[in-house]
Amino acid sequence: MSERQKLSPSDWWATSIIEMKPGMIRYRGYAIEDLIGRVGFAEMVYLLTRGELPSKPAAKLLEAALVAAVDHGPQAPSIAIARMAMTCGVGINNAMASATNVLGDVHGGAGEQCVELFNAVAARLPEGARDAAAITKAVTDEIEALAARGIRHVPGFGHRFHHLDPRAPRILSLVDEAAAAGAVSGLFAAIGRTVEDVIAQRRGGKRVPMNIDGATGVVFAELGFPPPLCRGLFVLSRSVGCLAHAWEESQSDYRNKGPIPRDQIWTYTGPGPRKVPE
Ligand SMILES: CC(C)(COP(=O)(O)OP(=O)(O)OC[C@H]1O[C@@H](n2cnc3c(N)ncnc32)[C@H](O)[C@@H]1OP(=O)(O)O)[C@@H](O)C(=O)NCCC(=O)NCCS
Repeated sequence: MSERQKLSPSDWWATSIIEMKPGMIRYRGYAIEDLIGRVGFAEMVYLLTRGELPSKPAAKLLEAALVAAVDHGPQAPSIAIARMAMTCGVGINNAMASATNVLGDVHGGAGEQCVELFNAVAARLPEGARDAAAITKAVTDEIEALAARGIRHVPGFGHRFHHLDPRAPRILSLVDEAAAAGAVSGLFAAIGRTVEDVIAQRRGGKRVPMNIDGATGVVFAELGFPPPLCRGLFVLSRSVGCLAHAWEESQSDYRNKGPIPRDQIWTYTGPGPRKVPE
């Protein structure tokens, strides 16, 4: 019998996150009644995912990142899907799940790869080196390594809609403030900015600005979140927009709403009319 098979029923789901008995709920050792009313939602996210309550500046940065990504309008596939799903007669949770399911490598989920990239750059820096030249070299080497693997679009940069994503500079300014106060290192903000510069150098000066995944990636990397959790954090944030849009759409009288108005039809590219073979 394997060690796992020998586990008692109570150890089967052993967890360090929550302790519960009749009349008692503790998260990471803190009684829920002490947390309620004292701890914000972002702090609770940090506590559950990281094991400790964040410092105030860390909580402020996480909160800012979670606020920044809530919604990008029905032009964003996730939001459009939330709205379409809602007109199909499903419950609001189904609409939210359908929407968040499309937050992948290209839409909304790039934060995971972006933080991997930032971490890989940091790992390339010689021990203790934080100067601009060392960061530029490490970024250039990492972008070349991505290109050698066939990755042309650097995760966390570029946007179909915004030439300058207004969320990114604001988030970076908050990271700068936290770094000036000594709350975070500021290294990942420097790496993020350098990635943008290096992409521009490689494109003959044409800039591809940092997007929301890049900017929130800077925050998550500064706070030390492991990359897969970063995608989950984006999903938490975008869920708010998905919820609001699903609810708004449910208040309309549309039923079974498609991705384009029904009087517009797609371009057919297949064979012309033909007879079914005998
Ligand atoms: C978001 C994204 C899909 C937008 O794509 P797009 O508007 O179709 O951009 P295009 O692919 O047309 O790119 C336009 C030019 O910018 C370049 N470019 C765009 N994003 C780039 C990136 N992330 N890294 C390097 N170059 C990029 C393209 O190579 C292209 O160059 P060219 O004009 O020399 O051919 C794309 O930027 C991307 O895949 N980014 C990485 C994934 C990501 O961060 N997604 C989250 C989006 S919020």
